[in-house]
Amino acid sequence: MNRLSASGVKDAFGTTVLGERVYYLETVASTQDVARRMAEENAPEGTLVAAGVQEKGRGRGGRSWHSPRGGVWASVVLRPRGDIPVNLVVLSGALAAAKAVRKASGLPAVIKWPNDCVVEGRKIAGILGETCGDALVVGFGINVNLKPGDFPGGLSGRAASIFSETGVESDETLVLGETLRVFEDCYLKINRGGASEVLWEIKCLSSVLGKPVSVEWRGREHSGMAVDIEADGSIILRLDSGLLMKFQQGNLKCSLP
Ligand code: BTN
Repeated sequence: MNRLSASGVKDAFGTTVLGERVYYLETVASTQDVARRMAEENAPEGTLVAAGVQEKGRGRGGRSWHSPRGGVWASVVLRPRGDIPVNLVVLSGALAAAKAVRKASGLPAVIKWPNDCVVEGRKIAGILGETCGDALVVGFGINVNLKPGDFPGGLSGRAASIFSETGVESDETLVLGETLRVFEDCYLKINRGGASEVLWEIKCLSSVLGKPVSVEWRGREHSGMAVDIEADGSIILRLDSGLLMKFQQGNLKCSLP
C-alpha cells in the first residue's frame, strides 16, 4: 500500500471522521492490536492504523489472518455515542468492503453473514469488530493484490483477491478510501439512530438470505433457511423443524453463497 497520510485519506475520499489521525506502518504484528492500545490511551474517534504487512494478523474466533504485502490491512477506532449494535457495525464494514471491491473491479462481491465479503463463494475480505472499553475497534482485511501463490495451502480455493479474480492490479489506497467512505456513512447513520437504511442495504447485498445454510454455534450445527437479518445484526434461520432461531454469532456454511 502507498504510504498514507491524514490528508491523503480524508481529503481524497471525503470522510469527515475516519482518518482523523492516520498511522501507517510498513510492518506490524497486527493493526488491530495497535489500534486497541491507542484506544486505551484515549485516541480520538477516527484514528486509523494501516500496515503494508501484518506478521500476526488476527481474524474472528482467534483465527489468524494471513496478511502479506498486497492487501488492505487497517483498523479504525470508533467512539459510539452509547449502546451500538456491534454486529450490525461489523456487517456494515462487510458492506463497505463489498462496495469498494465492486467499484475497484466490477467483481460481484457480496456479504456473507456475520463478517465476510465473498466473490463467488471465495472470501475476499473479513471484518473484525472488538469493543475496547467505551471504544469499538473495527479491523478491515481486504485481499487486493495478493497473487494466488500468496495464499497458504489451507486457504486455496476458499480465498480470493481482486487480482486473483481479474488479473489486474488495483490501487490499495483507493480501495481503503472507498471502504472507509461507505463505512463512515453507515456508522454515522447507525450511531444517529438511522440503522434501518443500513440494514436494508446489507440485506440487498447479502448472499445468504433465502438460501439453505447451517450455523455452527457452541459446537452444534443448526440447519435451515436464512430468512432475515435483524437490526442488531443477528441472523434468523427457519430450522428444518419449522422453528425460527436467532443467532447473534456463529460460523455459517452455505453451499452456494
Ligand atoms: C475475519 O474474517 O476473521 C476478520 C479478519 C480481519 C482482519 C483484519 S486485517 C486488519 C486488522 N488487523 C488484524 O489483525 N485483523 C484485522
